[in-house]
Amino acid sequence: MTDATIIDGKAFAQNLRGKISTVVERLKADHNLTPGLAVVLVGEDAASQIYVRNKGKQTTEVGMNSFEHRLPAETTEDELLALIGKLNKDPAVNGILVQLPLPDQINASRVLDAIDPDKDVDGFHVINTGRLATGNPDAMVPCTPLGCLIMLKDQLGNLSGKRAFVLGRSNIVGKPMAALLLGQHCTVTIGHSRTKDLAEECRRADILVAAVGRERMVKGDWIKPGATVIDVGINRIAAGEGKTRLVGDVDFDEAVKVAGAITPVPGGVGPMTIACLLRNTVVAACLQHGLEAPDI
Ligand code: GUN
Repeated sequence: MTDATIIDGKAFAQNLRGKISTVVERLKADHNLTPGLAVVLVGEDAASQIYVRNKGKQTTEVGMNSFEHRLPAETTEDELLALIGKLNKDPAVNGILVQLPLPDQINASRVLDAIDPDKDVDGFHVINTGRLATGNPDAMVPCTPLGCLIMLKDQLGNLSGKRAFVLGRSNIVGKPMAALLLGQHCTVTIGHSRTKDLAEECRRADILVAAVGRERMVKGDWIKPGATVIDVGINRIAAGEGKTRLVGDVDFDEAVKVAGAITPVPGGVGPMTIACLLRNTVVAACLQHGLEAPDI
């Protein structure tokens, strides 16, 4: 059997950012509108700092305004809610993202539900979660699963009737991914740590999305020959001589010999997440100004 097609997330993301730049230019020229994204980071989590820096950089690269708010780790929930209240009212801010995880003294769902749902470019507000679950097209869709869906549709075309297995049940990836696949008329199963015979469940899937955060857990013989595998995992492992490297939730070297198509780590899902955040911000800006949302 020949090796799987490698799904190039970097190329997808570059293509999407190109389309976003074009829309941003047109909004500026025709409506004197520059979309703005506010990103809020509480504390000094190292990975979060890198994500936030990348988000800011890519936001300005596509011509949008980036507003970064870095708050100390001791910030209280009331202080954070006060900032969100201000951002909700600020007409220059079309999208608001509060980087997770938040420090223990802050109740994350209370904070996420304080964001104006129309500015909720992460799609984590309970209203957007409910819209997605009920198939309402006005839902803001979480960025990582949206990126996965864009790549799956490009790879497979019509997803209707396909058997999809989502490994992981987080609010950020697993649950919204399952809702999106159901919206595409897939037969969807969600697997998690208590699922019996996980390998057998995975092997039944035409589409396998792995989002459990356990390095190389999905082995080659867990995969149906020819299946499309989307690896959301980003796990740092030791690579000898004091070095580290990133691997996914799928054992790539094994899976590439069995799957029909697969996303690599790094260079698969990761780059698409931020591109989808920019996409959601442009769409939010258009809708807030009564303009038709771009089809991107
Ligand atoms: N932390 C890890 N992933 C995400 C994400 O998609 N959005 C936010 N806000 N925080 C995260």
